[in-house]
Amino acid sequence: MILDGADPLALLRGARALAAGDLLGLPTETVYGLAADAGNEAAVAKIFKAKGRPSDHPLIVHVAPAEADAAVPAGVGYFASGVPAFAEKLIRAFWPGPLTLILPRREGIGAAAAGGQDSIGLRCPSHPVCVAVLLQAADLGVLGVAAPSANQFGRVSPTTAAHVAGEFGDDLLVLDGGPCAVGIESTIVDCSRGAPVLLRPGAITRAQIEQACGQPLRAKEDLAAPDPRASGTLEAHYAPAAKVRLMSATELQKALQLLGTEAGRTPGVAIAIYARTQLASRSPKVVLRRMPADAEGAAQQLFAALRELDAFGVRLIWVEAPPEDAAWEGVRDRLQRAAAA
Ligand code: TXA
Ligand code: MG
Repeated sequence: MILDGADPLALLRGARALAAGDLLGLPTETVYGLAADAGNEAAVAKIFKAKGRPSDHPLIVHVAPAEADAAVPAGVGYFASGVPAFAEKLIRAFWPGPLTLILPRREGIGAAAAGGQDSIGLRCPSHPVCVAVLLQAADLGVLGVAAPSANQFGRVSPTTAAHVAGEFGDDLLVLDGGPCAVGIESTIVDCSRGAPVLLRPGAITRAQIEQACGQPLRAKEDLAAPDPRASGTLEAHYAPAAKVRLMSATELQKALQLLGTEAGRTPGVAIAIYARTQLASRSPKVVLRRMPADAEGAAQQLFAALRELDAFGVRLIWVEAPPEDAAWEGVRDRLQRAAAA
């Protein structure tokens, strides 16, 4: 059931659902999350079950923003055993916002949400509906909310309330916070190895992170620590049902010329094309969609576009390869994973 996130009663209902150990579809500025009380093992187990996600894959725990006189949210001190100075700089620079920090976990706290690892992923989101629910849930004793993206394991992340309902059916309570502004999942920085390591690129770029924390990002291979299991770093992730292929604008235009105007033996659309470049096609087998020309716009629309194109029932989605520059790293990463599926 989808409830309007602007309705105070709906927010209260959402917070109460979390406190009661139930699941909640929760909007964030990145993507919608499938939320549960991170301190309630049975509630966390419901997330893994609903998503079909292996229970040793750690979840991100969302905390309410800091009190006016504090830099670091109270939830951080509850779940993490320490915050290195460079991580605190990142918190000051980017929270509330689309950044997740991996920190050493306080023993005995949030173990199920952390997938049993001795670290914990923490994020303080900025979406007003999410913030309101986190604050009200905290009043009811919920100090952190575990929320992976609200999609079946390995599938495209949801950026609208309708996407979430489509993944989990009408029984799930979903708060509608509108389409997500960022559109791809948070940037993840591992702060548990003594130096910052980028685990997942997102809207916050490498350069922004390095500038804010005053030190270079390191490659995880350079730091002696076991690799955390990160399902977001599995190759085949973010995959629609159709096969995704990345191509240059020239390759796309050539392929379209080869297809010509033939309808082929099977009726209906067979290939979807998502490109920044304006392309021409006269083939009845092809549906064309334009990708925004800027990285932010492309990120915001990416998952909704993949879902929409998938819904045509196409076998192939051909996507124009994004530019190589730093601003596009998050979009590039998601598309490469979708294409690897
Ligand atoms: O934008 C986001 O981060 C969204 C919204 C809902 O906040 N959440 C999200 O969660 O993307 P999820 O579960 O789909 O992705 C979590 C990623 C995974 O790659 C997971 O392995 C990694 O974060 N992660 C979480 N805790 C970790 C830990 N302790 N160590 C290493 N990686 C961790
Ligand atoms: Mg996910």
